Amino acid sequence: MQKKTILDFQKMKAAGERIAVLTSYDYPMTGLMDGCGIDMILVGDSVGVVVAGYDNTLPVTMEDMIYHTRSVVRARPQALVVADLPYLSYQTDLSSARLNAGLLIKEGGAAAVKLEGGAQVAGTISAICDMDIPVMAHIGLTPQSLHRMGGFRVQGKGEEQGEKLLADALAVERAGAFAVVLEGIPMALAGRITAALAIPTIGIGAGPQCDGQVLVLHDILGLCSKYAPKFVKRYADLAPVITDAVSSYIAEVKSGTFPDERHSFS
Ligand code: KIV
Repeated sequence: MQKKTILDFQKMKAAGERIAVLTSYDYPMTGLMDGCGIDMILVGDSVGVVVAGYDNTLPVTMEDMIYHTRSVVRARPQALVVADLPYLSYQTDLSSARLNAGLLIKEGGAAAVKLEGGAQVAGTISAICDMDIPVMAHIGLTPQSLHRMGGFRVQGKGEEQGEKLLADALAVERAGAFAVVLEGIPMALAGRITAALAIPTIGIGAGPQCDGQVLVLHDILGLCSKYAPKFVKRYADLAPVITDAVSSYIAEVKSGTFPDERHSFS
């Protein structure tokens, strides 16, 4: 299989081929999911919640993102690797946005970056695209805007809000984004936006009419004990598998049955 580039996603939209995206934050998981044929891997700032244990994504730093992006890229995936620009790495001024996007490419090894926001970040998206760095936009429920939204709430409800989100989607496309994540919006609105855009839409909590879907890896594997939103589908329940294994190890160490001769040198 050939390494995926942003051009493939354009072709997939044109051909009506759905795009499967998952988050990853490390080397072993990336190798496993790439072997399954995932199209795009997002090194999401959700790492702050599902790996680092923060309540939200706001504390995640550029250092965190570079470290995790490097770990993912070291698995040499065929999938396109997109890295999130964390909170405060692109909001204050264009030159820090450009520098931080460049660092995710140069030091992290990502092939594209993602940032949150609609029309208000169009200038930032085009400034980063001008450096030949592909940008994926992210509109709707944008977790870095937690405090403005008053919590993690569905966005774009009602006609006025829906029109605003459609305008945001068109603005990020005009600014040069190669794809846009639609998070936490009504499915009919996601369908309207998907039909209006030439670039692919990647939905999360946005219904089935998007060109692709993204979910957080730890959520689909049942590794997160925290509250899971309605749009998450669990494809495995790994938490009990892990606790059973760890409990067996502890019991065997305590009882002296591990290590046995097979796991010792003579
Ligand atoms: O950080 C993340 O994982 C994301 C996806 C959930 C879209 O932004």
